Amino acid sequence: MADIAPSLLAADFDRLEQEIEALDRAGTGILHLDVMDGIFVPNYTFGPELIERIRPKTHMLLDTHLMVIEPSLHIDDYLMAGSDSITIHYESSTYVEEDLLRIQSAGARVGLSIKPETPVEEIEPYLRYLDLVLVMSVEPGFGGQAFMPEVLPKIRRLLELKLSGGHYYNIQVDGGVNRGNIAMLVDQGADLLVMGSAFFSEHDYGAALAEFRSLARYRMREGD
Ligand code: DX5
Ligand code: ZN
Repeated sequence: MADIAPSLLAADFDRLEQEIEALDRAGTGILHLDVMDGIFVPNYTFGPELIERIRPKTHMLLDTHLMVIEPSLHIDDYLMAGSDSITIHYESSTYVEEDLLRIQSAGARVGLSIKPETPVEEIEPYLRYLDLVLVMSVEPGFGGQAFMPEVLPKIRRLLELKLSGGHYYNIQVDGGVNRGNIAMLVDQGADLLVMGSAFFSEHDYGAALAEFRSLARYRMREGD
């Protein structure tokens, strides 16, 4: 069963507390948190302090997406802040295996992300450690960009590797997800869809979530 993870980046930061309450009331299970350092990506967002403030206010799983150089320097801070899962970027880490094991040994869910131009083959050695593979479907850095259809074969490939390798990771897609491409993404193998601008532009989060979840309802593929 695929699910939706709203990305806080697109929320109204002047009313952050109300936004989080509204997401909770809507029945959101996962909140995606985009950490950007202005170096790995040309934008800066927030650090562990914000996550620490959000943590006691919600039961949503806090899904931290680290778009920072050398994540090994920061993983502990984001674990301490209360992240339930931490996703690092393959391209930004010198010690990918060590970073993943560090997250795993702290009991958080382990995520690895690839930018649109990075092939799946490069992360194959790490799949066995992962609870989550994040396929970026825009260049990381900003919300509101258009979905890049050229990443679709990577989603399908990750599904094949998951089934053939006995892996259990979620296949998460992030960037340009909207009501028009949810069903197609799930059909390719995605089961966790990050939605920023397309989610927060809705007035009724509960109704939007119900609609997006119904679009994402898992469809069994025959002969696949
Ligand atoms: C982009 C971030 C995304 C972003 C998605 O670098 O990783 O999570 O918030 O926003 P939308 O859904 O608007 O593309
Ligand atoms: Zn993200």
